[in-house]
Amino acid sequence: MSSAPSSAASSTATPASRWRRLQASTDAVHRALDARIMTGDPFRDRDRYARFLAMQLQVFRDIDALYADPGLRAIFPDLAERRRLHLAEHDARDLGLAEPPLDTPALAPPIDPPTGMGWLYVIEGADLGSPFLLQETIKIGIDEEFGARHMRGHPQGRGLHWRHFTEALDAVALSEAEEARVIAGAEAAFARVNALFERAGLAGAAPATPAS
Ligand code: HEM
Repeated sequence: MSSAPSSAASSTATPASRWRRLQASTDAVHRALDARIMTGDPFRDRDRYARFLAMQLQVFRDIDALYADPGLRAIFPDLAERRRLHLAEHDARDLGLAEPPLDTPALAPPIDPPTGMGWLYVIEGADLGSPFLLQETIKIGIDEEFGARHMRGHPQGRGLHWRHFTEALDAVALSEAEEARVIAGAEAAFARVNALFERAGLAGAAPATPAS
């Protein structure tokens, strides 16, 4: 498999880009998850926020091995600085929370880079929703400087930081089988986050289906 960025990346954003394919294939699960989170009202008070933070800690723990993976570091040169586990741990200390019990991480070495790309797409993408979540946490005294450090924006701006990520995501050449593992990785990441929200008692009802 190729894990080096291709120098032949096109400068025009084509709808057939890997990023756009990921976006299209996970759009429905993303919308359903957003709706469930907002109905679950995780920012109503600090007790609920603590459950949200414990869930975030688990997600960042799940993917922590990705940041040290040489194949993924070759694809995303700024990968190390995208890690947010230590910021979420700092948030827990801000709020005086005991270290929550954590599962065994979902991903462990050896990492399959295409699968890791799918997981990273989901976790990096989720940061685009952070400004909306921060609008809510601020009402309970939690912000980017206290308790929600893991949601803080990048100095270059979230938009540009995200563009650098998607450009790197799109630049690498992959086989068809590897492409399928990128999509499967993103689906697994969304499924994991969904399950963690449910387990934390933070997920509102799943959107009604027309048949039910
Ligand atoms: C209520 C909570 C959430 C809100 C309000 C929210 C909102 C948003 C917004 C506004 C964007 C930017 C869309 C754009 O610029 O086109 C976004 C993108 C994204 N979000 Fe969420 N989000 C939430 C939760 C999550 C969660 C929990 C995940 C997964 C862990 C997630 C994954 C993503 C991904 C992958 C993208 C990138 C989509 C793309 O490819 O453009 N979001 N979200």
